[in-house]
Amino acid sequence: MEQPLALDPAGRDIHGESALLRERGPATRVVLPGDIAAWAVTGHALLKTLLTDDRVNKDPKNWGVWQRGEITPDMWIYTWVAVNNMFTAAGSDHRRLRKLITPAFTGRRIEALRPTIQKIADGLLDDMAASSDGTADLRSAYAHPLPMQVICHLFGLPEKLQPRMALLVERVFDTTIEDAASNFAELQQMLGDLIALKRAEPADDMTSVLIATRDDDGTRLSEAELTDTLLLIISAGFETTVNLIGNATRALLEHPDQRKQVTADGAGRWGDVIEETLRWEPSVAHLPMRYAVEDIELPDGQVIPKGDAILAAYAAAGREPALHGDDADAFDIDRAKKEHLAFGYGVHFCVGAPLARLEADVALTALFARFPELALGDGELTPVESFISNGSQRIPVALNGA
Ligand code: HEM
Repeated sequence: MEQPLALDPAGRDIHGESALLRERGPATRVVLPGDIAAWAVTGHALLKTLLTDDRVNKDPKNWGVWQRGEITPDMWIYTWVAVNNMFTAAGSDHRRLRKLITPAFTGRRIEALRPTIQKIADGLLDDMAASSDGTADLRSAYAHPLPMQVICHLFGLPEKLQPRMALLVERVFDTTIEDAASNFAELQQMLGDLIALKRAEPADDMTSVLIATRDDDGTRLSEAELTDTLLLIISAGFETTVNLIGNATRALLEHPDQRKQVTADGAGRWGDVIEETLRWEPSVAHLPMRYAVEDIELPDGQVIPKGDAILAAYAAAGREPALHGDDADAFDIDRAKKEHLAFGYGVHFCVGAPLARLEADVALTALFARFPELALGDGELTPVESFISNGSQRIPVALNGA
C-alpha cells in the first residue's frame, strides 16, 4: 500500500500538494501536522457524496483517536474538535445549534448590511490613500480590517479588544503553532468577558441575541455552547473573508487582461471574480474534520474504516481536471463552469456565504474604483502558515501603479 502523504503544516505549496493528492485518486491517506492520520478526499463528486452521507459526521466522539484520548489541548487540532457548537455537532444537535443563528444570516438581512460595509471600506481606503509613499500591504490595510470590523460590528466586540482577538483567531488557523492550549484558553476567556459584558448591558448585536435566545422547548444555549458558537462565528466569519478579498485582488493584479475586462464590463462581473477566486484559490484549502461512523467502501474499492478521520480537500477539488478541464489550474473569470465547494456542501454548508460574498463584492468594487492603477508592489507573497487557511501573509501593492 502507498505511504500516506504528509501535508506541510506551513502550507507552503498547497496546489503542488493538491496535485499529488489528486494523482493518488479521489480519496487517499494523509498525515496531518502532529502525526494525525486522515483520509483526504479530493474528488469533487466523491466529496459531495461523502459530505451528504449519513455514515460521515463531525462529532469527534466517532473518532478512534479522540476516544483513546490522544488529542490533547496543546495540539493545533484541539480548537477544531474540542468545541461545543454546530461545527462539531451531528443530527438533531447540529440542527438545534444552527437554527439559532441562521435567521440572522439570510440574504435579505445580510444585504441590509451593505451601507455599513461600504462605510468601513471607504474609511480604510481613505487611510490607504493618505499613505505617504503610495504603497501599502493590502492584507493589513484592507483585506484584514474590513471583515474584522464587520464581524465586530455584528457581535458588538469592543474596539479595544479587536487587535488581540484578530491575533488569537489567526493562531487558530496556524497549524505550525506550539502553544495552542494557551491560545484557546485566552480566546475562551475573551469571549467569556464579552458574554459577561453583554449580559450586564445587552445591546443591538448578535452576542446579545444569542444570550437571550431560547430553543423551542424554552431552554437556552449552555454556557459552553454559547462561548463556542461565538468562537466559531467570529473566527469562521473573518479569517476566511480576509483570504477571499486578498486572493481575489492578487488574482486580478496578476491577470491584467481580466482586470481590464472586469473594469470595462462594470458591476456585473464582480460575482464572476469572486466565484472563480473561490474555485481557484479557496480561502479554506482543507477542512478538518469528519469521521466515518461505519466502514465506508469507496467506488474504487478502498474502505475508510469506522473511526477514521476524513479531511475535505477543497483546494484540490476546485482544480479537478475531470470537472474543470485541462486548464483547471488557470484563473479565468470567463470560464463557463465555476462550480466549487469552497463553502462546503450539505448540512454544514457555510452559514456566512452571503455575508462573505457581499463583503468581497463591496471591498473589490470600492478598491478598484479608488485605485484604478493599483499594481503588485515589491516583495514575496508568502503563504499564511497553515494547511487550512489559504492566503498571503502580506500583499504589497503600489496604489498608483508600479
Ligand atoms: C470566504 C469566506 C468564507 C469561506 C470560504 C467559508 C468556508 C466555510 C467552510 C468550508 C465551512 C465548513 C463546511 C464543512 O463543514 O466542510 C464553513 C462553515 C461555516 N461558516 Fe463559513 N466561510 C466563509 C465565511 C464565513 C462567514 C463570513 C461566516 C459568518 C459570519 C461564516 C460562518 C460559518 C459557520 C457558522 C459555519 C459552520 C456551519 C455548520 O457547521 O453548520 N463563514 N465555512
